[in-house]
Amino acid sequence: MNRGTPHFVGRDAQLEQLHQEFQQTNQLAICAIAGMGGVGKTELALQYALRYQDNYPGGLCWFPVRGLDLGTQVVNFARTKLGLTIPEELEFNQQVEYCWGHWPEGTALIVLDDVPSFSKDYKQRIQPYLPPAQSRFKVLVTSRQRPGASYRRIDLDVLSPEAALELLRSRSVAYGQSLVGKERIEKEPNEAEALCEWLGYLPLGLELVGRYLDIHPNLTIAKVQKRLEKKKLAAKALLYQTEQGEITAQLGVAAAFELSWDDLKECPEAQQLGCRLSLFAPAPFDWFLVEKCVIETEDEDDWEEEQEELEDLRVRVAWPTANRYLVNRNLLQLTEQQTYRLHQLIREFFLTKLAQLPEADGYKQSFCQTMVAVAQEIPDTPTQIV
Ligand SMILES: Nc1ncnc2c1ncn2[C@@H]1O[C@H](COP(=O)(O)OP(=O)(O)O)[C@@H](O)[C@H]1O
Ligand SMILES: [Mg+2]
Repeated sequence: MNRGTPHFVGRDAQLEQLHQEFQQTNQLAICAIAGMGGVGKTELALQYALRYQDNYPGGLCWFPVRGLDLGTQVVNFARTKLGLTIPEELEFNQQVEYCWGHWPEGTALIVLDDVPSFSKDYKQRIQPYLPPAQSRFKVLVTSRQRPGASYRRIDLDVLSPEAALELLRSRSVAYGQSLVGKERIEKEPNEAEALCEWLGYLPLGLELVGRYLDIHPNLTIAKVQKRLEKKKLAAKALLYQTEQGEITAQLGVAAAFELSWDDLKECPEAQQLGCRLSLFAPAPFDWFLVEKCVIETEDEDDWEEEQEELEDLRVRVAWPTANRYLVNRNLLQLTEQQTYRLHQLIREFFLTKLAQLPEADGYKQSFCQTMVAVAQEIPDTPTQIV
C-alpha cells in the first residue's frame, strides 16, 4: 500500500463515517465510495486504511481491480506476501477460497480500488472471488459507479472551499520554493479562492494546478487562472472524447491537464511518454517495461554506429527527464513499490492526445511487440516470485 498524500485535508467526517459504517456490521461490510474521477475516493480509502490499521490485526490488503481479475490478485498476494502454499489440484475458484480460509487471523480490511462497474464485468471478475460473506473481512470498494443494494455507500462530494484552499496552500509549500507558495496565496487571497472555485473544488484539479504554480513561481494566481480560462474550449473537447459524463465538474481538471500538457512542450519526450503510458493497462506497472517499449522503437532503423551511440545517449538522458517532468507535474505517480501508475482520468486524457499523434500507430506496435516479447520470456511453469 502507498503512504498517501502528506496533505490530506477536509475529510475527517468521512473517515469517521466510514469507520462507523464498518462498526455497524461485524460481518461482511461492503462500503462503496462513489463519486466522479479525481474527487478523492482512492485517497480516502488509503487514509482510512492507514489511520485505522490497528483495528485490523488481520492486515490491510489493497487490490487495484480496474482491468484486473480479483481472483488472480488474491492468489498472487497469498502466495508471495502470505507465503501460502496453495494446493495446485484445486479449481481456481477453490484456490481463491483456500486463500481467504488461510488468511492471517483477526479482522482484515480488503480494499478494492476503482471498480469500473457493477454490472457484467464485476460479476465475472470480482464477485466470485470476494471473501466469504458473514466473515471477519471488511471490504472497502471505491468506484465511480454506484453499487447495488448489497453495499452500504458513502457518496463523496468535492472539498469544501476552506479545505480546497488548504490543499492549494499546503501543496505550494511542499513542492514550491518553500515559502514562496504560501506567500503567494496570502498575497492574492481572493484570487486563490476564485481559483479553487473555478476548479470545482476537485482535489485532482487542485493538485495539478498546485504543481503548476510551484513550477512557475513567478506567475500570479490571477495569471494562472487566465491561462486556465483560455484552456476551457480545449478542455471541453477533451472531456467529450473521454468516457466521462460529468462534464461540468471535471472541466477544471481537464483545463488543468491542458495547461500541464502545454507545459510539457519544452520536453517533447514527456508528451510522448505520457501518451505511451496511456497504452498500459490501468494497473501499476514496472518502469523496465516502459524502457523496453521506448528502446524497441528507437532501435527499429539501422543506424550507423556513431548515430547509434548518440541515440543511446539521448535515450538514457531524455527518458528519465521525461519521467521526472511527468512525476513533478503529478501526471504520473511513483508508488511505494517503485512501480508507476496513472490516475484513470489522466490516462484517459493522454489517450485522447495519443489519438492525435502521427506516431500513435508506431507506439501501439512497439507496445504490443514488447509485451509479446516479455510474455514469451515467462516460463510455462512460473518460477519467479513477482
Ligand atoms: N482530501 C484530500 N486532501 C488532499 N489531497 C487529496 C484529497 N483527496 C484527493 N487528493 C489528491 O487528489 C488526487 C486525486 O485523488 P484520487 O483519490 O486519486 O481520486 P479518485 O480516486 O476519486 O479518482 C490525488 O493526487 C490525491 O492525492
Ligand atoms: Mg481512484
